[in-house]
Amino acid sequence: MQTKTISTAKFPELYYRLSGTGNVIILLHGFPLNGTIWDDVVTKLSLNYTVIVPDLPGAGQSSFHGTELSIEDMAESVKAILVNEGIKNAVVAGHSMGGYAAIAFTDLYPEMVAGLGMIHSTATADTEEKKEQRRKSIALFEKGGKDTFIKQMIPTLFAEQNREKFKEEINSLTEQALLTESKSMVAFYNAMINRPDRTNTLKTATMPILWIIGGNDGIIPPKNLIQQTSLANVNFVHTHEGCGHMSMMEVPEDLADNIKSFADYCFNKAAH
Ligand code: MLT
Repeated sequence: MQTKTISTAKFPELYYRLSGTGNVIILLHGFPLNGTIWDDVVTKLSLNYTVIVPDLPGAGQSSFHGTELSIEDMAESVKAILVNEGIKNAVVAGHSMGGYAAIAFTDLYPEMVAGLGMIHSTATADTEEKKEQRRKSIALFEKGGKDTFIKQMIPTLFAEQNREKFKEEINSLTEQALLTESKSMVAFYNAMINRPDRTNTLKTATMPILWIIGGNDGIIPPKNLIQQTSLANVNFVHTHEGCGHMSMMEVPEDLADNIKSFADYCFNKAAH
């Protein structure tokens, strides 16, 4: 694995990992995590593909100027990395908040997307209720409550029945998430509040869409996704029963297989 850091006007540091050779898959992490969540999946996918894993701006080892960030800014960070690598198109897959960035990228640069992966993610905007919940959390982050929030939140990313089994992973994710600045936590939540509904992107998509659903995902439950998974022309849908919001850790082998078959299809189709 190589690691690189580039700099743009908006992002003083954009850190990413690059492994393998061949056609490109880029994997975007969710909130409040960083690219290391994909480690197990990358080990497998990089046998057949070039796999790029950024830390999104404000997460892990990447940063942004100022205090505000949008989901479109995250998409621009992906563009900057692909341009830096001279990559014309890729399978772009995102986990949860990373999926919001992946679909925004698809909206902005459809010609660069060989396939879009929505991993425990949704094309819909936040409901008013969700926005209100996020605003309360933002008030908490601003009052120094970030750490309490993170310690409560991370275990809920895993299916309840998996929390004991993944105790070490939960502790490690918590430790890493605690390093996220309050400024980033606020910016991520505002970015998610402000993101538009992108179901139309699915309806008009010219590329195949991959859906990964956790049967026991408490953050983005299956019932919120069923309708979306038939909006595009070509959909690959995998529901993992007994899995929460973290298939890349709860069922990494299965997820790597799902992404590999999807990428095989997307790049084969592009070649014909
Ligand atoms: C994530 O996992 O990225 C976030 O929890 C998604 C969200 O809050 O909508």
